[in-house]
Formats: sequence, structure tokens, C-alpha cells
Amino acid sequence: MSKTWKVGVAGLGTVGGGLLAYLDQRADFAPAGGRAVVSGVSARSRSRPRPVDIGKYPWFDDPVALARSDETEIFVELIGGSDGPAKAAVEAALKLGKPVVTANKALIAEHGAELAVLAERMNAPLLFEAAVMGGTPAVKMLREAMVGDEVIRVAGILNGTCNYILTEMEAAERDFADVLAEAQAKGYAEADPTMDIGGFDAAHKITILAALAFGCAPCYQHAEVEGLSNVELIDLKLAKELGYRIRLTASAERTEAGVSVRVHPALAPLGHPLSETFGATNALFIEGRRIGRIFIQGPGAGAGPTAAAVAADIADVMTGAARPVFQTAAAHLKPFAPVAPGQRREKAYLRLMVKDEPGVLAAVAETLAEVGVSIDSFLQRPSHDGVAVPIVLTTHTSPETAILEAVERLAALPHLLQPPRMLRIAHI
Ligand SMILES: NC(=O)c1ccc[n+]([C@@H]2O[C@H](COP(=O)([O-])OP(=O)(O)OC[C@H]3O[C@@H](n4cnc5c(N)ncnc54)[C@H](OP(=O)(O)O)[C@@H]3O)[C@@H](O)[C@H]2O)c1
Repeated sequence: MSKTWKVGVAGLGTVGGGLLAYLDQRADFAPAGGRAVVSGVSARSRSRPRPVDIGKYPWFDDPVALARSDETEIFVELIGGSDGPAKAAVEAALKLGKPVVTANKALIAEHGAELAVLAERMNAPLLFEAAVMGGTPAVKMLREAMVGDEVIRVAGILNGTCNYILTEMEAAERDFADVLAEAQAKGYAEADPTMDIGGFDAAHKITILAALAFGCAPCYQHAEVEGLSNVELIDLKLAKELGYRIRLTASAERTEAGVSVRVHPALAPLGHPLSETFGATNALFIEGRRIGRIFIQGPGAGAGPTAAAVAADIADVMTGAARPVFQTAAAHLKPFAPVAPGQRREKAYLRLMVKDEPGVLAAVAETLAEVGVSIDSFLQRPSHDGVAVPIVLTTHTSPETAILEAVERLAALPHLLQPPRMLRIAHI
């Protein structure tokens, strides 16, 4: 006889509301012949309007009580946040050996290792497809399809809000703050945009992908994060003249020197799939030693796509699909060894606002030569006000420490009107 799975849903916002609507609409959702029925719900407000009438479901003020309820067989956590009620409820479910499905990137990136140990000790699946790239299946790609290969690198665009802002800035020639304010007014960006704009949301996601790709513990504390707030419209324009488009890239790479997990704005060549990813769309390259490069692109958020990803995890529970949470048995998971900054090599874009006076170019070239950084290309624009002249150069691949040293020395030149702006050129 086909089984009915009782699903407790905690969090009824964008994703939780989307999941209730999904389960309502899809009477044909019957993986392995079984059915998923909502057996209880929890949120902060019982009276807030939801996409479906929640009066028909048992209500729980406390998500931990929902996780522990005898009527909950699969616990779905869609509250969010790395700690607090989300973590307490997930732990409560796992401690009872109940499968957990979550979309919570912060929770998995920051506490994934300890939760994986608990989940595997209790033989309870812990699944989080929706936590990275919303509806686009990046987690299953790494957890399932790529296990036969050795992944060398994953890199992409993992924050739709930042990509939307960059796309709008370029298309409408508008400043960052202006586009951000409009995105907030339209509900595309959070009232507090720090997680998105600061790069922390993308850092949570790339931390999870790194753990899946390399079979190590998620180490959010080792992620190097630089957000978008220093990217100016002038950089977008100048980068384009040089043949690039600026994107907030998230990457994780494994070399003999260790693992590097980073989020920062970077220049991607025009025509490259990352520079051709527009609006809120997400994109990801996965590079395997044998398979080579795979590229996926799709929606990274939204009620429908994200609920479908949550449903895919529920289907895994119902069909009995079982794998280690992060490729390696949780008891043997180790944090990765981060690459020392001195061992990294980069190409960089440097934008200098200099005084319109003789001797500037010679001083810049000399400063770069002193630290062993050579110039690849150079662009000078006429001064608009007779005072400041923007000059832009790109470097050949050099030790990152030398580039940072060059930025420091350039900042000290008397010709500069403001600190140099350095952006990395993506090696993709
Ligand atoms: N939005 C997306 O497209 C998307 C995509 C991928 C992943 N995610 C992840 O999915 C999770 C949910 O995101 P969301 O956008 O759906 O968030 P949201 O719209 O803010 O919804 C959060 C829900 O959690 C409930 N909640 C908050 N504190 C609670 C508590 N103490 N006890 C019970 N319920 C509580 C809220 O209740 P009230 O409604 O009563 O306030 C709300 O229903 C997050 O981890 C997020 O990172 C979201």
C-alpha cells in the first residue's frame, strides 16, 4: 500500500507559503507512489494572509513543538537564520531521527558540520537543495551527479539581488545607491540589504557548494567576502570599454596550496556566460577533473522555483534516496585548509582618479614596476572638470600580495585624488 507522509512546515513566508500552494496544486506529486500531506504548520502570525487557507492545518506557535509532534514525519524548516528557532527546530527533529528539509543557507553554512554528524548518527536525511540557487539544482548536481569525478572548482553568480542591481546600473546608467533604493521599494531587495550587498548571502551559498564539491566540512569562517557597495557606475562603464562586465562572483577552488572560498566583484569578459547572466538570474560553473566544465543557469529565488526545490528534497525522503550530507561521512568531515594569501595569483583592474598634471603616468608605471606588477592594458579618459582624470589599467597575472602592495603604494602618490579602486579579473 502506498504510504502517506506527514509533513510539518515551519515558516510560511515566501518559500513556506509557496510550498503549501505547491502541495495544494500538485495532487499528482507522488514519488514512489506515496503522498505528502501537510500535518502541521508554524509561523509567527496565525492571522497573516497566506497563499492557501491554513485554517485546515493544525497550528503550532512553536516550531520546535511542530518538529517533535508525533504527526510530523518529515520536518520542513523555512524560517531562516543561522541560529534561533530554525536551528532549535532542526536539531529537535534530527534528534528524534526525523528527516529534515530546509532552504536555510545560513544554518547549513554555519552549523552544517555539527548538524550532519547528528543527522548521520540518527540515520535521518538532512537535505537543502533550495538553500543554493533556489530552483536551480546545484546541490544535487554536486551531491549526486558529480560524485564520480573530482571537482576542482565551482564559480558563479549566487546572489540575484546583486546581479539585478549591476544589470540595472549598466542598462539605465544609474548609481548603485539609486538602484538599490528602487529595488528595496519594489521588494526585490531586503529592507536590510547587508546580507545580499555585503556578499554574505553568496558566501553562505559558496561555503555549502565548497563542502559538497570537495567533501569537507562547511567553513563559513574561512570564506573571504567583499561585497558590492564599492562598485561605481564609472567602473561598469570603464570595464566595458576594456571588454568586461562586472559581476559579484562566488568561487571555491581546490589546488595543491589548499582551498580558497571567496566572494567579490570581478570582471568577466563580455560574451562569457557569467557576464551574459542578467537580472536576478543565478549561474554556476562546475569543473571536474574528468568531466570538464558544466554550466547551469536559472532562478535563484522566488516562491515557485524554491518550493519546487524543497519538493525535490521531500521526494528524496519519500523514495529513500540516501547519501552522506556532504559527500564524506560526517564523522570524518574535516575543515578545509585555506590557501595562504601569498600563494594566490591574480589579474587586476585598477582605476585611479588622478590630477590632470604631467608626470602622473610615469609615477604610476614606476610604482607598479617597484612591486613587480606589469601592465597589460591601459585606458585614459579626458577630464570632465579639468581637475580629475580617470585612468584605468589592467595587470598581467601577478602575486595577489604584489597587487595589494601596489594599491597601497599608489594610494600614497601625491597625484591621486582618491584611493585606487581595485577589482579582480575573474579567472574563468
Ligand atoms: N525567498 C526566497 O526566494 C528564498 C530562496 C532560497 C532560499 N530561501 C531561504 O528560505 C528560508 C525562508 O525564506 P523566506 O524568503 O520564505 O522568508 P520569509 O518570507 O521572511 O518567511 C519566514 C517565515 O518564518 C516565520 N517565522 C519567523 N520566525 C519564526 C518563529 N520564531 N517561529 C515560527 N515561524 C517563524 C515567519 O512567520 P510570519 O510569516 O508569521 O512572520 C515567516 O512565515 C530562508 O532560510 C531563506 O534564506 C529563500
